This record gives sequence, C-alpha cells and structure tokens, in this order.
Amino acid sequence: MEQMSLEARVGRLEDDPPIALEAVDFTVVDPTALRRRFAEIFTYIATVEGAVPQNIADITTLLPDLGPLDRRFLVLWEGHELAHSAIFDALRARLELPERNGIDRPAPPTRPRRSFMAFGALAKVTWLQDVFKLVYLARGAMNEHMTYDCYRYLGHHFDSLGEHALVRTVTEPIRRQEAAHLGYYRLAAATHRRTLSAAQVRLAGHITARTYAPVGSTPAGRDESGRVFTGLAGAHVDAVLDAVQDIADQLLGADSRPLPRFVHEAMAECLGRTGAGPDPTGCPTWN
Ligand SMILES: [Fe+2]
Ligand SMILES: [Fe+2]
Repeated sequence: MEQMSLEARVGRLEDDPPIALEAVDFTVVDPTALRRRFAEIFTYIATVEGAVPQNIADITTLLPDLGPLDRRFLVLWEGHELAHSAIFDALRARLELPERNGIDRPAPPTRPRRSFMAFGALAKVTWLQDVFKLVYLARGAMNEHMTYDCYRYLGHHFDSLGEHALVRTVTEPIRRQEAAHLGYYRLAAATHRRTLSAAQVRLAGHITARTYAPVGSTPAGRDESGRVFTGLAGAHVDAVLDAVQDIADQLLGADSRPLPRFVHEAMAECLGRTGAGPDPTGCPTWN
C-alpha cells in the first residue's frame, strides 16, 4: 500500500510542472529595499537550487541501483528546482544585481564529485548501499523541510514589505512544491528504513550526524550560510532547526539511542559559535 502511496506522490509531482518564468509577476514595490536586504539571500537561493544537476550526478553515482520510482522523482525534482533557481536569477536581474560568478546558468556537470565516486565504490556492497540510500532520503527530507521554512519566512518578509506579487507568484507556489518534495522524501525514507536492520539504521544515523551541514553550505561558505538562514528566520532559527532535527530523529533514530543534536551544532558552526576554534574542514556538506 505504501509503495502505491509513494507512486501516487510521484504521479502527483508529475502533474505539477516546473513554474514557468512567464507565470511569475516580478512587480516590485521597493527594489532598493529588496537589494539591500536580500542580495546575498537571493544569490544563495539561486545557487543552491541550481546545483541540483550536480547533486543528481553525485547521488546516481553513489546509488547506482536506484529504482525506477527514485529516478522518476529525480527527473521532476530537477525540473522544479532548476525553475526555482531561474526565478531567483530573473529576480536578481530585475533588481540589477550582478550575475552569479559572471555566469547565471552554468552548464550542468557531467561528472560526480570525487568523494562520491569513492563512496560509490563502497556502495557496490548491497548492505552499504542500503545504508547510503537511507542517508540520502533522510537528508533529502531534512533539506526540503529547511527549504520549505526558508520560503515561508521569505514570504513573511515580502508580505511585510508590501511585495505581494512576489508572495503570490514566487514564495507561495515554490513553498508548495518544496512541501511536496518533503512528502516524497519522508515517505520514501520511512518505507526504505523498514527493510533495513537495526545496525544499518544506526550506521545511517551515525553517518548523517557526522556529515550534516545546512542545505547549500560549503566549506568555503559557512559564514554565508549562517547569515542567510538567520537573515530569513531571525529569532525563529532554532524552531527551524528543531523541525529538521525532529525529521532526523524520526527517520534515523531509535528509542534506545537518540541522535545527538547535530543539526543545531552544524548551524552553530556556520555562525561561529562552537568555541572549538577553526575547523579545517569547514562545514562538511553532502547535498
Ligand atoms: Fe526549490
Ligand atoms: Fe525542493
């Protein structure tokens, strides 16, 4: 039954096409205020949403045995997220912000990152591949929840600035798609978890806690991630992190062995609050 339900979720996503630029009302009331408050945030969003082809190259290398349903989801997920990126690039252009790294639409990568090729070799062991798949699906649910919350808070900011066209045609429709992605990942992870042993689930939890970083953060950009997430959620950032940790606990935890509060720790690192001194690895990320 659950497989049917997962299938139904993918079918529903297939009925929801990527948001076309023509459907967006880019009417802006106060471009100066938007530039001042959101230049870095819009760039971050456009970059992270636009990184999906790289993520897919990595994931399909790590998990060469993904099933047809998983692959169907990846195709529509890519279409949705690239459209989100294009919307924020178009908005940045309207606001006369400089192009990202001089090139707004980089060519999709054709090769996975080297770290994923190494993991992919390990994943030839089916037992490990099943562990990595749970890590991937749980991470997807965590990232989508965080993304969903970011669009929710961005919508509140737009609302309070009177930017109602952007709420109606940007943050609301995107937020709905992020919620649908979250629904898929959460159900896919819970379904997959039931096929694993306790030792596999424990290892998946351990890997996730050791490698987690807020969505989009990189070793070079952890300060930026901290600014973006606190810039969006402000005093509510702890609530955003609590929700992400809850998902990890549900999908990867066990009653007898709770996961550490690694989501808050990862964000604290991005905000320079660890007090542990510089970390040469920065924010490890596995997006
Ligand atoms: Fe997105
Ligand atoms: Fe998404």
